[in-house]
Amino acid sequence: MVRLSMGCGGSLLTQQIVLTAAHCVGSSGNNTSITATAGVVDLRSSSAIKVRSTKVLRAPGYNGDGKDWALIKLAQPINLPTLKIAETTAYNNGTFTVAGWGAAREGGAQQRYLLKAQVPFVSDASCLQSYPNLIANEEICAGFAQGGVDTCQGDSGGPMFRRDNAGAWIQVGIVSWGQGCARPDYPGVYTEVSTFASAIKSAAATL
Ligand code: ARG
Repeated sequence: MVRLSMGCGGSLLTQQIVLTAAHCVGSSGNNTSITATAGVVDLRSSSAIKVRSTKVLRAPGYNGDGKDWALIKLAQPINLPTLKIAETTAYNNGTFTVAGWGAAREGGAQQRYLLKAQVPFVSDASCLQSYPNLIANEEICAGFAQGGVDTCQGDSGGPMFRRDNAGAWIQVGIVSWGQGCARPDYPGVYTEVSTFASAIKSAAATL
């Protein structure tokens, strides 16, 4: 789990590449303006690992609708565990964990301490009722019908994850958007990682 200086979350795809949301970054190219903070719950901890970016790779074809993923190359590797990404739809169901330093309520402040929550999968059919503009094959929804638990502003780019059949953590989503936060009948919308897994891996290989 990584906090990015523009106010987003991210995950370690490799020790030197952060997976985040396209809407968190600018265009692809050399970029030394982003600082990644890792290895801590408390962003003000003196033991925080802080590493600068060297490059940004925004999803090819990103135009603000769907394809909400990007990679950030770091100046040095961070010696922490990485999070594997889902390469099939097998884990696009069940209960997910989400985490971030974003707002703890709609309109609220960014957080000093990392928060996490659990949210259930919402089917495309159900999510389309809330969001007719959903791009169902590129986005995956999660949240409770009654609301109350969600990601929010500042959590974008962070991972939505669960355990796989072997008990290992696997990333199935990237925090992307929602109507407000934690509102009834408006689940959180996440980039569907399995859809982009091949593209993410081949992009990472070029960094
Ligand atoms: N777009 C937001 C960000 O940039 C994330 C919003 C997530 N919203 C939600 N209701 N789950 O941080």
